[in-house]
This record gives sequence, C-alpha cells and structure tokens, in this order.
Amino acid sequence: MKYSSFLYLSFLLFAIDKPWRTHAQGRFFGRLVDLVAGGDNTNNTNNKNHRNNMNSNIKNRRNRKDDGSSTTDNNNDDDNAHEFPTIRLSNGVHFPLVGLGVGNMQPEFVPAVISHGLDENKNIRLIDTAHVSKNEFLVARGIVEGVENRLLKSTKSGDGGATGTAGDKDKHDDENKQVHEVHVITKVWYTHLGYQRTLHSARESLESFGEAIDHPNIDLRIHILLHWPRCYDEIPWMDCKGEEEHLPEATKRAGPPPNDASAFNNGNGNSNDTNNNTNTNNGAAWKDSWRALEELVADTTNPIASIGVSNFHRRELEEFDGFAKILPHLVETNTWSLLYDPLLIEFCHRRNIHLVAYNLMEGILYQAKTAPFATHHLLSVANDITNDMRRKDLLPAAVVGNGNSNSNSNKNNSNDISAAQVVLAWLLQHSISVVPRTTSLAHLQENSAVALSQIPAMNDDQVKVVAQSVEALISGEDLTEDAFVTLTFHAKSKDVFLYWHDPEFGGEIEIAKIQKGTSFEESSHPGHQFKIYEVHGGGTEFFDVVGNYGEHKHIEL
Ligand SMILES: NC(=O)c1ccc[n+]([C@@H]2O[C@H](COP(=O)([O-])OP(=O)(O)OC[C@H]3O[C@@H](n4cnc5c(N)ncnc54)[C@H](OP(=O)(O)O)[C@@H]3O)[C@@H](O)[C@H]2O)c1
Repeated sequence: MKYSSFLYLSFLLFAIDKPWRTHAQGRFFGRLVDLVAGGDNTNNTNNKNHRNNMNSNIKNRRNRKDDGSSTTDNNNDDDNAHEFPTIRLSNGVHFPLVGLGVGNMQPEFVPAVISHGLDENKNIRLIDTAHVSKNEFLVARGIVEGVENRLLKSTKSGDGGATGTAGDKDKHDDENKQVHEVHVITKVWYTHLGYQRTLHSARESLESFGEAIDHPNIDLRIHILLHWPRCYDEIPWMDCKGEEEHLPEATKRAGPPPNDASAFNNGNGNSNDTNNNTNTNNGAAWKDSWRALEELVADTTNPIASIGVSNFHRRELEEFDGFAKILPHLVETNTWSLLYDPLLIEFCHRRNIHLVAYNLMEGILYQAKTAPFATHHLLSVANDITNDMRRKDLLPAAVVGNGNSNSNSNKNNSNDISAAQVVLAWLLQHSISVVPRTTSLAHLQENSAVALSQIPAMNDDQVKVVAQSVEALISGEDLTEDAFVTLTFHAKSKDVFLYWHDPEFGGEIEIAKIQKGTSFEESSHPGHQFKIYEVHGGGTEFFDVVGNYGEHKHIEL
C-alpha cells in the first residue's frame, strides 16, 4: 500500500489525542470533551467566561466571547452542559463538531431543513453558510422555526419550557425560559476582501441573521470566515472581472476592488483601503480583511464568537504570524486538502486551529464507482460497528435514519450504520467538524449530532481501514484488495459441485468439488448467487449471498 496521508493524519492527531481514546468509560464524544475540558483550557477561568444573561439587545451580548479578556462568568455554560458534541476553540469558545451545510442549497429547502435539524432527535447546532449563498436570512428563519418548535413541544410535553428536555441542557435565562445555543458559520466572499468591504459584508450578514440574533430564546453564535484568500483567474468557475462588475453599488462604494493591485500594493506597505493596511503583495487584500475580522471579534457588542478562513493554503496561514494579532480560530477546508495537504493539518493542529471539513459526501462517498474496493471496506467497518451497537442494544432509529433505505451502495441494510456515517464519525473522532449538506430527512437523521455521537470510537484497525478507504475514494486510486462476505460451504452429507451462478445471464462457473465431510471457503459479495449440484443423484439448489461486507457465513449442504 502506498504512503497514506490520512494515515499520517490519523497518527498525528491520535498521537496527541490518545488520552481520551483510551479512557475506559463513556462514548467517545464524552471522552473528547473530557480531554478538552481537562486540558490546557480547563484551568483557565477566563475561558469559562460565558454569559448567562440573554438579552435581545445586541449591546448586551458582551460576554458571548471567551476571548480571555472579559470577566469570569462561571455559569453553567461549560462543555458538559452541551448534549451535542463540542470542542473548545483557541479562544475558549465552544464549537459544535456536527454541522449542516446549507451553502448552495436550494433556497426553498433551507428553513425547513434547519428547523428539522434542530429537532431534539437530531440536535444539529451548527449551520454552515456564506454571504455569497444569499440565504443568511433563511438560515435565521430556519433557526427561529426550529427553536420555536422545540419550545412548543416541550410546552406540550408539560414542562412549560421551564426545564430542559432530554438531551438538551441549554441554559435557562432569568425568566426560566429555555435558551438554545445555535452556531452559524458564514463567510466573506472574495469580492468583499479588503478592510471596508469585509466590514460591509459582515454588517450585511449580521443584519440578515437579525431575526435569530434578536430572538429571546436563541443564543446565536456567529463564526465568520474569509471564504477564499483571493479570486483566482486560473480557477475556471471564478469570474473575477465579471463578479466585480456585477456587485451592488453599495459594495463597490465600500472599498476598492480586492484584485486592484494599486489599492493594496503601492510599494510601501500603504494602501488606499483604510485603517492600518499592511499589504505588500498583490492579492493580499485578505490581510486587510483579517484586520476587520479581528476588530469584529474583539467587539463584544456583536455575536461574533470566532473568526477564521476557508480554502487557505498552509503558506498563507504561515503569513498570519507576520501581521495578525489573532490567529484564525477556524479553518474550513475541502476533504481534498485533508488528503493532499497534510502539512496544513499539522500546522492547524500545532497552532490549535480547529478544522471544519466540507465536500465529504461528494468528494468521498460519491466516488464509490472509482474505488469499489474501498467502498466495500467502508461497508465492512459499518457492518462491524452496526453489529457491535446492536449487541449492546445501542441502535435506535435516531442513529440509522429511521430505517429509511439509502440509494446507492452507502448501506448494507436500511437499519444499519451507513458508510457516510462511518466517514463522518471517523472525522469527528479526529476532532474535525463536519458540515454535510442534505435535503433528505433520512440523511439529516444519519448526519445528526444525536446519531453520530452514539457511534462508538473506532478501534485502531477500523481507523486504519477508514483512512485508507477514504484516501482511495478521494484519489480515485482504489485499494489493491477487496473486502468480501466470506462463505464456508460444508458438505455435511453428500459430495457436491459448487458453481458461481449469474442469474441475469444464466452463466455458471465451476468453483470447487466439495467432498462429503469437508468444507470449502469462498469470498463473495452481497447479491451473488451460487448453484450447488449433488455429485451423485443430480439434485440442485441455489444459494443467494445475503450478508454484509466483513461477515462470515457458514452454509451446511
Ligand atoms: N468553504 C467552502 O468553500 C465551501 C465549499 C463548498 C461547500 N461548503 C459547505 O459545505 C456544505 C456541503 O457541501 P458539499 O459541496 O461539501 O456537499 P457534500 O456535503 O459533500 O454533498 C452533498 C450531497 O451529499 C448527499 N448526502 C448528504 N448526506 C448523505 C448521507 N448521509 N448519505 C448519502 N448521501 C448524503 C446529499 O444528497 P441528499 O440531499 O439527497 O441527502 C447531497 O447531494 C455546503 O452546504 C456548504 O455549506 C463550503
């Protein structure tokens, strides 16, 4: 097997994360939270600096940020108060591991999908979108609908909203109302790079989220990222000139075009964009944007909880040291980078920058045809996990998408863990947040915080198989060995001929003659058919392979 970047990633992250993996009790998220809470951040009381006082007035949102500079506020907003898996960012802010992507989702689906995602049996508390998706107001609508549905349900169930529902230990405000914490990632598009344009973009985003920000039962925490470091003429779908031309006048007026070298590079480190510009390179308007984000996150009158970047390379991240006051708290990246840029991952890990991964389904699962062996191996791990959970009676409908069957080869059976869940759980196990997009309720359930947090930690062998399979799927270079359903045919009372049979074309291939009292082992796939002929007497029977990858079946003949 060739050198595996993902295995490198596994070793790198697991070497550091070992303590929670070997902890004897609890689900792996519990252990993850333990580690994070018990690590460097635990004793830093500044990091526990969350507000307990929700107020619809945006001015009173000062304590939302845990930037270490605010006063200590020891309310119940600690890691253990979250029944959805979280991790602490470098600024002490809790951040959900399980998210839902709605960037590029058809607008008509957005509010309903988010609202369903917030249901108690899914508990998805992170929504990923972008300014360029033009759906931030729909995101706010969906969050409001979802939270109001939850309040309604808890009122109907008789607790009047005064006590937390099962699995939800959100804070209660002074009036004893439930306050649901919801996180949103949004991003500043590359047309809005530069100090003033970035401020303009962020202001528009905050306005669009207004309905959720101002809702008394919602604690909205916004994470704002630079979507790209610049517009690249060489990337075919980017239309640098055209997009600039079609910007609203207000955006154009806000600041100079980011790709205007004269505005951001006049040879002496000054620029025509305002405020402390330090750009010295063409295409470095993002550095001015970063200053804007630093100011925004430091401003405690808005609900911006952290800042970060997306689609940045390691070399750009390394530049932060030279000019930034705050390192990115978050880096959002394509799965492709996880594979081909392990140094980016290493850099983020060493600098305590949290990773959010996108393109998990389209980039990995949807490549099943290019790497079928890898897909079978993922299904084999899914089968192991399913059996393990079933043995322990840990496989409710909330984990497997209410028994809905998936199309394609993503599941062994409709009531099993899916290959998608294996990949998502594997990333979460590496403390990487995931933001898959879906408009299917069954997939929403599978991808949910409730479902994924119940999947037990994979053992080292499973981690290795998943790492290699994911790498094969992304690269299109399949694994050299397939996974199978193993069959042991035992000729108990007669000599038989074993044939592989193709029901579609009726063709047969002889596999073995099995003498009475002996066994023969064969590797096969679900759906295959065998035909068994008695050597003496001429009787025949068919055997259909009903089983999952990784299983071993015994057949008495
Ligand atoms: N930072 C960036 O530059 C950037 C770029 C692209 C995307 N994103 C973010 O990432 C999010 C995801 O977008 P993506 O492009 O990465 O797409 P993706 O999540 O890789 O794939 C989405 C597709 O996966 C399917 N799917 C979802 N869950 C599934 C499951 N459990 N089993 C089988 N299929 C499943 C969905 O179909 P169904 O609807 O039928 O479930 C949909 O067709 C976006 O919404 C956006 O927020 C960020």
